[in-house]
Amino acid sequence: MRSVTKDTITDAFVNYCRKTKDPRLKFVLSRLAAHLHEFAKEVELTHEEWLQGMDLLYRAGRISSPERSEFILFSDVLGLSAVVDMVGSGGKRTEYSNLGPFHIADAKWLEPGGDMIGTGDGDHVAFYGRVLDARSGAPVPGAVLDIWQTAANGLYSNQDPAQPEGNLRCRMKTDAGGRYGFTTVRPAPYTVPDDGPVGDLLRATGRHPWRPAHFHFMIKAEGYRPLTTEIFPADDPYIDQDAVFGVRHRLVVDLVPETNPARVPFKMTAASRLKTPFFRVEYDFRI
Ligand SMILES: [Fe+2]
Repeated sequence: MRSVTKDTITDAFVNYCRKTKDPRLKFVLSRLAAHLHEFAKEVELTHEEWLQGMDLLYRAGRISSPERSEFILFSDVLGLSAVVDMVGSGGKRTEYSNLGPFHIADAKWLEPGGDMIGTGDGDHVAFYGRVLDARSGAPVPGAVLDIWQTAANGLYSNQDPAQPEGNLRCRMKTDAGGRYGFTTVRPAPYTVPDDGPVGDLLRATGRHPWRPAHFHFMIKAEGYRPLTTEIFPADDPYIDQDAVFGVRHRLVVDLVPETNPARVPFKMTAASRLKTPFFRVEYDFRI
């Protein structure tokens, strides 16, 4: 097209991409361009603002490393990650929530009822429940749960040299009744990294970088779509203002104060180590 105008540029872009073999790529790219063009026209984006945006992306690239993706963080604080999670989930299945940057593959295996308290300080928690088939409600035996969380200081083991390697992480298979359970410590709220361009964006918009405390779960079972999600204690001070929009009401749980380990309806190998009062959490995942 020789003479492109702001009214014809989206069609011109689509025309340029007409030989794209992958129909999904063709569709997604065309719509991305259409929304970007429309966005720039709607807000009447100036050259200075466009340059600021490009500089933000450049700085995001500079500060990113294999351990830190500032681009994912941008996606998180803009709510894009949450929208992607919500588009792909819901209904009878447990909703997706952020994977986050702190998962480590190949965590140690624990038997159902195993102990993650380790040497950790803080409040103790007995966490148990089932993995269920979302359609039939039947238990799913042999489902693999990958679990990770912060210590009481709000840090993950891979951020904190004071924690032993693999602290507060495990993998566990559900038993014949689809049940899982573990003893652990209560996680703490933490801030997303705010020393880069994402931090500048948060400050420029008067936002804080806090996430409410949460337990991370990744659940896989043969014949089911994998589930990555988070479980949030309801009484957290940041429960209604998660910087990365991860909270959904069905993922919020009450931590029930408990003084008697015998009242926990799942056999915990470290029940005698539970420091009373501790908290009880029951949660059934639907996959
Ligand atoms: Fe997290």
